[in-house]
Amino acid sequence: MQGFLMQKVMRIDVLLGLQWGDEGKGKIVDVLTPGYDIIARFQGGPNAGHTIEFDGKKFVLHTIPSGIFNRETLNVIGNGVIIDPFVLKKELAMLAEGGVEVGDNLLVSRKAHLILPTHRLLDAVYEKSRGDQRIGSTLKGIGPAYTDKVSRNGLRIGDLESDDFEAKYRASRERHLKIARQFTEDHRAISVEGMSFEAYEEAWMNALSALKQLKKVNSEYFLNKAMEAGKKILAEGAQGTLLDIDFGSYPFVTSSNTTAAGVCNGLGIAPKNIGKVFGIFKAYCTRVGSGPFPTELFDEAGETLRKTGREFGATTGRPRRCGWLDIPTLKYAIMLNGVTELIMMKADVLSGFAQIKVATAYKHKGVLTDELPFDASGTTEAVYSMKKGWEQNLEGMTEFSRLPAELKDYVRFIEESVGVPVKVVSVGPDRSQTIRK
Ligand code: GDP
Ligand code: IMO
Ligand code: MG
Repeated sequence: MQGFLMQKVMRIDVLLGLQWGDEGKGKIVDVLTPGYDIIARFQGGPNAGHTIEFDGKKFVLHTIPSGIFNRETLNVIGNGVIIDPFVLKKELAMLAEGGVEVGDNLLVSRKAHLILPTHRLLDAVYEKSRGDQRIGSTLKGIGPAYTDKVSRNGLRIGDLESDDFEAKYRASRERHLKIARQFTEDHRAISVEGMSFEAYEEAWMNALSALKQLKKVNSEYFLNKAMEAGKKILAEGAQGTLLDIDFGSYPFVTSSNTTAAGVCNGLGIAPKNIGKVFGIFKAYCTRVGSGPFPTELFDEAGETLRKTGREFGATTGRPRRCGWLDIPTLKYAIMLNGVTELIMMKADVLSGFAQIKVATAYKHKGVLTDELPFDASGTTEAVYSMKKGWEQNLEGMTEFSRLPAELKDYVRFIEESVGVPVKVVSVGPDRSQTIRK
């Protein structure tokens, strides 16, 4: 029997967003990093913008995991991620300028796919052709690059090591331009990153050398062996559950599985090896881009959230749509991800509101429900509970017990509504402004 006993492997923990992205994943991954040997991104690409602040410095990461600031921790860009060498090169330069060393502490999966300049071109022409039905894409080429992956036309990091890379690149480029011509007479008129397409393509080609210098791995073997050796791994999500390709408000979603299941595909981890699932949410809600948002505010309160919370996109600079916390979506996200503990961000932004509203159900086509309807749109109305607000500025607070009674009541109300404990409350963008309960 001995031989049949399974070897005990460390399980991989997961941190992911429970709303429409920008929950503060970067900040919390950075805070948790000292407790992990490896941080691994499992999906998405440079549509992500993860902000980390400490010692008066601010960094925004798009492709590189947020564990990069701790020299002891390895960072892995998994097979489920899509990589734009141009963006990655800029990110590496930004880190170098900030005094952050990147070398053997960053590993890239050979199976991760490449975002080509023509993917960005296609993203732009598809968005334009949708008119007022546009997704509000970040225009980073995400949809077209994942489309090529699924239709078995993609180029992968491992292809950079092969002799026929250039031929494969040319073939993809031609195919994409043929498609683009159906939407635009002259693709050269479309600018990418503020450059002409041709200038961008040249910059992209030049950036390949930075990517080639990074250490490549068969990350599924690397991570599974690390787990067997007892290493602690945290998987870092990008975007949020409500932008998931299957479970988000389709078609106003991104093109990857942002949920816990994405960890299995995006890193090569068996479901039984998933450990804790940290679900992160803002004390209110935001969304960038188009699509349903039942608790969206169009009044003064929404403006206050945007201003106080500095709700402008980390990747595109676009103003984020703001609204009250939405319990039904939170419960939905907890169910889909098997969240074991919650992390509540930006509690400080709610200071000064006399009353805080929380959606506890929806009225959809005249029927009361606490489930997200298939076609949630302008006709889905949020049904609210009122909570008493607090005046105190939370910025310098460090202990949960010292927080205003109304905030503690707000946290308790959320915990009781969703049935999962809140273990961390964040009260400011800095690493230090993080309160463990
Ligand atoms: P991510 O994409 O989930 O990593 O989140 P983003 O970085 O796009 O957006 C979160 C924004 O909120 C960033 O500007 C953070 O610096 C900031 N932030 C994070 N936590 C807090 C907090 O508790 N309070 C405030 N005021 N800002 C925060
Ligand atoms: P992080 O990781 C917020 C949104 C876009 C758009 C939709 C599709 O920083 O939380 P895409 O470029 O993926 O085709 O855009 O998804 N979106 C995000 N919103 N945070 C993100 O990432 C996002 N990544 C994509 O605004 O509505
Ligand atoms: Mg972001």
